[in-house]
Amino acid sequence: MSFVALRAAALLVLGIVAACGSDSSQSTAPGNNPPTQPTPTSTDTVSLRTLAAAEGRLIGSAVDRGFRYAGTDGVTFRTMLAHEFSVLTPENDMKHERIHPARDVYRFEPADSLVTFADANGMKVRGHNLIWHQQLASWLTSGTWTSDEARALLVDHVTKVVSHYRGRVLEWDVVNEGLADDGSLRSGFWFDHVGRDYVELAFRTARAADPNVALFFNDYNIEGINPKSDSLYAMVRDFQARGVPIDGIGLESHFQLGGVPASLGANIARFAALGVKVHITELDVRMPLPSTAAQSQTQGQNYRDVVSTCFGFAACDVVVMWGFTDKESWIPSAFPGWGAALIFDSSYQPKPAYASLHDLLK
Ligand code: XIL
Repeated sequence: MSFVALRAAALLVLGIVAACGSDSSQSTAPGNNPPTQPTPTSTDTVSLRTLAAAEGRLIGSAVDRGFRYAGTDGVTFRTMLAHEFSVLTPENDMKHERIHPARDVYRFEPADSLVTFADANGMKVRGHNLIWHQQLASWLTSGTWTSDEARALLVDHVTKVVSHYRGRVLEWDVVNEGLADDGSLRSGFWFDHVGRDYVELAFRTARAADPNVALFFNDYNIEGINPKSDSLYAMVRDFQARGVPIDGIGLESHFQLGGVPASLGANIARFAALGVKVHITELDVRMPLPSTAAQSQTQGQNYRDVVSTCFGFAACDVVVMWGFTDKESWIPSAFPGWGAALIFDSSYQPKPAYASLHDLLK
């Protein structure tokens, strides 16, 4: 179905969203900007979340340090976050090392504050993540465990975290980055200690802890059709055949400039045909620094291609970017020499990518 064809049906959803009073977006009357401020900031325009809601879609951002900025910087960050986005993903605060810092200690407060903010601003929360091979607390990775003990630790972690947020998150990344590029299960703490059935154990445990939340497998390099996404496709079919609960897959979508795979749409289509949701969960488009105006234009086209392809499918109704301002992006530290990956610059000014998404959705 084409994006345009979906519009009419989506207008029905708009009524529901409006009836829930969940959109805090405000638009300022035109002409109200003082002449000393010629460049409108995003809060002067109809927000992306409002435009996406008109299509029955959600658009979001990951959030970490910027949320806790002090002073006007913090106010700007939080105001723009709530204005533009209808989904919030804790970038780090729900990860094992943060939320479960000692064997008998769960520390929910930082993530709770994000969930409370999301609730107060009519935003949904993507739970990220339960089981991953990275950012595990050192008490876990430095311990010596039998496979039975590791299973019990997995069940305890998933049960406690999912139960704590029952009814407050839209969906969970139950297993994160569980596949290697050749499509085999990736080696890591849980695979090595529990065995290959750790994936289904995590999904079954999450379902037992919250019968209503959507359960996702989230990974990178599965955006196009390739051996890794083929393997995930086989896993989803196998889970469905055996009654292992899985509701969706997350396409992380950390792209290099010009690197959106041509088979993105065909890949979304084949998973959607299985009846699972396909969400874009960590979108960013990085470029070599310093960036040029031409690169920023290409980036705008790349963002537009991803979002229009996704929103062309009923199953692909959520797009989350891995942050919104270049001031707070994981890219420069994870990929030295690269950056400028998000839709606002480091002064919170909209980039061509913001304009192109706005134009797409309007
Ligand atoms: C990243 C965060 O953005 C960084 O702040 C942190 O230091 C490392 O993790 N795939 C994922 C995310 O699923 O959790 C990662 O987030 C980025 C790659």
